[in-house]
Amino acid sequence: MNIVLLGPPGAGKGTQAVAIRKHCGLVHVSTGELFRSALKDDSDLGRQVKEYLESGRLVPDKVTSTMVARRLDEPDCAAGCMLDGYPRTLQQAADLDELLAQRERILDFVLYFDVSEATAVDRLGGRRLCQACGAGYHIKYMPAKKENQCDACGGELMQRTDDMPDTIRDRLKVYGEQTSALVEEYDMRGLLYRLDANVSPTEITAAAMAILKVVGQSSTVPGRSKT
Ligand code: AP5
Repeated sequence: MNIVLLGPPGAGKGTQAVAIRKHCGLVHVSTGELFRSALKDDSDLGRQVKEYLESGRLVPDKVTSTMVARRLDEPDCAAGCMLDGYPRTLQQAADLDELLAQRERILDFVLYFDVSEATAVDRLGGRRLCQACGAGYHIKYMPAKKENQCDACGGELMQRTDDMPDTIRDRLKVYGEQTSALVEEYDMRGLLYRLDANVSPTEITAAAMAILKVVGQSSTVPGRSKT
């Protein structure tokens, strides 16, 4: 199964990807994570994308789709994957169709995380990540047991550089200008499933798993683009 998690920054895509993976084992491919890891390694790709990530602008489509193509060819993606943060433009959506067709696969459906802007800003401002293992927390909604210390490995918790107020505003603007059109595009194609992402993580996971179950049982899914 190949699915896309679509929604604005802070909608909870990454949090749900981890939960969905725990439930059904579907591989999680996050373009943001792939870029941040390239940045950490100071690779050519990392140097190429640094400015985009720091400013909240989108990395050019060609660079992004080339990176995704490589990731799709890794053995763990052979049975499909869950794309988080890709596609983010209409061009990337066309690239994805082509990448999947070249591999004799299809896009099964898109989970759209529908969240208010105020909720997204609140979530991004309070997000903390473990420096060592990458586990995610939120200072209000998913706090670590000990302040600034990862429950899993004891690593230090840090704020993402693009989670500062000005950059959060810019990222949400970029989403509105370049990514939100994909909601209509996938809706028109009958691939979109809308989730209310303003609620608790467990409620969102339950709704997402219910959709996965229905789609997993039948390739002809009645009632696509439903809540
Ligand atoms: P990326 O890493 O993809 O960032 P994003 O899309 O902006 O998404 P986030 O990771 O910020 O949010 P999320 O929805 O995953 O929320 P999360 O689960 O963490 O991209 C970063 C950058 O890379 C981009 O700006 C761009 O430069 C580049 N890039 C990436 N992909 C690209 C592409 N395709 N093309 C071009 N450039 C690209 O949750 C947020 C917080 O809320 C956490 O603290 C969490 O604990 C908390 N939380 C989650 N769910 C809930 C809930 N239900 N209730 C309460 N709190 C919650």
